[in-house]
Parts: sequence; structure tokens; C-alpha cells
Amino acid sequence: MDLKKVDDIIKRWKSNPSFAIEMLQDVQESLRHLPKEALQRIAQATGTDLSRLYHLATFYKAFSLKPRGRMPIQVCTGTACHVRGAQRVMDAFSRELQVEPGETTEDLLFTLEGVRCLGCCSLAPVVTMGKSLQGSLDSSKVGRLLKRYKKQVEKEAKHAWADD
Ligand code: FES
Repeated sequence: MDLKKVDDIIKRWKSNPSFAIEMLQDVQESLRHLPKEALQRIAQATGTDLSRLYHLATFYKAFSLKPRGRMPIQVCTGTACHVRGAQRVMDAFSRELQVEPGETTEDLLFTLEGVRCLGCCSLAPVVTMGKSLQGSLDSSKVGRLLKRYKKQVEKEAKHAWADD
């Protein structure tokens, strides 16, 4: 657990309790989750109630108490995508990654989740992989797509570890 990163974030926000959410956002981005130790550290440094931080950490979908993968995969489950085969696409990701929606792969590379309408229904079924959007996705293409992205994410992970 790299608490130095958490301490730096607290320092950046001058231990100001008014910026508790910003601190949580930065920790989430840096560690890809909010570990118990980080919440305790923020609570202590800012004088904020630990239970309030837990409330924030569990209220907002952007936060996670469990480590998330480097690349989130969001399968749109909105009506237009559902009608055009989103469930088959979700099943294909689930099978390839061997995780259920809401779970993260063991190697911490991918987190699979279902989301509501992404606002581009004409491209249904739609999936986002990190910052990139895949439209009109056919379940038969999922394996190949994942292979390509896995190489990219592994490369990014290696660079990130080298920087740590
Ligand atoms: S329902 Fe999937 S993008 Fe709108």
C-alpha cells in the first residue's frame, strides 16, 4: 500500500476537510480504489469523521473500495443496446475475462460493468473500453478486441510500475 501517494494528495489539498471529495477522487485515480488505510489517513489528517468518508466512498459510483482494473469496460445495457444484443456482448466479455459484471480480473487489468445509456444509441450495441468507444459491437468480435486491448493495457501497466 503506497500511503506516500495518499499523504501527497492530502498535502496538495492542505488537509482541508472541505476538499475531502477531491482527495477521494485523487486517491481513486492514483490507486484505482479507496483502501481502508487511505480513508483512515484522510480522516485523521482532516479531522473528518471516518463514517462520513465511507458514506461518500460508497455513495458515488466513481469510487470503489475494491481495486478496479486499469481499463474499465462498460457495456451499455440501455434499451437500444439491449434490443440489439448487449446481453450477448456482455456474456462474451464475461466469458473471455472470466468475471461477472461488476468484477475485476485477477491480473487487475480489466473491470467489467454494465451501464445505462451512453447517449449514442444509433451505434448500439455500444461498449467503452477505457476512453475508447466501440459501436455496433458484435459478440463474435469481443475475443479479438480484448487481445488487442490487453497488449495495450499490459504495456501501460509496465510503464506505471517502472515509474513507481
Ligand atoms: S441505449 Fe446504449 S447508447 Fe443508448
